[in-house]
Amino acid sequence: MVKDKKILLCVTGGIAVYKAAALTSKLVQAGACVKVILSESAAKFVTPLTFQALSRNEVYTDTFDEKNPQVIAHIDLADWADLILVAPATANTIAKLAGGIADNMITTTILATTATVWIAPAMNVHMYDHPAVKKNLSVLAEYGYQFIEPSEGYLACGYVGKGRLEEPEKIVELIEQYFASSGSQPLKGKTVLITAGPTREKIDPVRFISNHSSGKMGYALAEEAKRQGADVVLVSGPVQLQNPAGMEVVRVESAEEMYHAVLNYFDHADVVIKTAAVSDYRPKIAYQHKVKKQAGNTTIEFERTKDILYELGTRKKKQVLIGFAAETNNVAEYARKKLETKNVDMIVANNVKIEGAGFGTDTNIVTLYKRDGTVSELPIMSKTAVAVKIMEEVTALLKEMGKYGDC
Ligand code: PMT
Repeated sequence: MVKDKKILLCVTGGIAVYKAAALTSKLVQAGACVKVILSESAAKFVTPLTFQALSRNEVYTDTFDEKNPQVIAHIDLADWADLILVAPATANTIAKLAGGIADNMITTTILATTATVWIAPAMNVHMYDHPAVKKNLSVLAEYGYQFIEPSEGYLACGYVGKGRLEEPEKIVELIEQYFASSGSQPLKGKTVLITAGPTREKIDPVRFISNHSSGKMGYALAEEAKRQGADVVLVSGPVQLQNPAGMEVVRVESAEEMYHAVLNYFDHADVVIKTAAVSDYRPKIAYQHKVKKQAGNTTIEFERTKDILYELGTRKKKQVLIGFAAETNNVAEYARKKLETKNVDMIVANNVKIEGAGFGTDTNIVTLYKRDGTVSELPIMSKTAVAVKIMEEVTALLKEMGKYGDC
């Protein structure tokens, strides 16, 4: 799977540099096209000539050593790479990348790339455990960088622990898997807007009405759209889930806030998927102070919230628009009705009373209703697998609308 893939190997200065030489050789043997940037410190461990001979390409060390006057080297490399791998990645380079510092050929190139970046840390076990390194790694995770965890074993400094650069054979295997699974990115160049989670409608400062949505279904869709290459905007109601990496996440509370957030992004979206369980009603009055209990019963008057999906259906021009239907009975009838009244391209219906489907679970059981009358009943599967199926339909709908292949 790595044949003809363009891999930019960034080697920073630690004893594990010798392994990077073996890694270069193994990648080339597997058919990859490898270019290498060495940091100044890395070049003290193993010479550029070694990497040049193994990669059969020129090796870069100095940002100002412009080998080809037709291009600017670090931008050219940043654009060239299918995958950038920093191996070994020192604590110093990890800190620079986390801080957005661009003071050498490696950091300037990585700052300028849109390619996937993998970091393979290698350092002393206590360095790896230091809170500063941990914090920097989590910042990089938020930026969407991926990691090849160091393995445990004997370290050059004499310690035994976690910090060894993963073995070159294993790294090649991981790269092979990566290209095998992400070889096709059918949503590259597309903007996908997804809503997830519940909304909360205030009664007073301490009370609200809401529902059981955990956000899992919507977040799985957002992750899958991202994996398939889309630029993702996730508008999320209040949930306990972490923001997924590599996408814009807009947190909202109420249906009204979700309405404004969604409309803000709608015009630029190619695909909109409304997974959120939006409250249909809100208390007519949201009290400024806590409502005190009194003798006897009380009544809250509710008013309708805006139906966001309906509104999108009236405004829709170029977008593929997908809605969900959470039902407890007459699923097919209600789903078909929503398909029509909300002017959407597909409804994903789930009977939320069935075990393994709907709110809070890691699985779902859905049926897809399309405008051409097609109905696909899917078996119980993980929400991630449901997301893959929905994205397959999205790609098909984009193709039907002639919106495919123009990226
Ligand atoms: O979040 P999880 O715990 O993973 O659970 C997943 C889920 C059950 C929330 C999800 O699978 C699901 O069914 N989402 C839709 C829930 C819902 O609100 O369904 P509905 O049938 O009431 O609404 C139909 C569609 O209109 C939905 O796309 C909804 O987002 C949209 N809507 C509804 C009301 C409103 N005021 N504005 C809307 O946009």
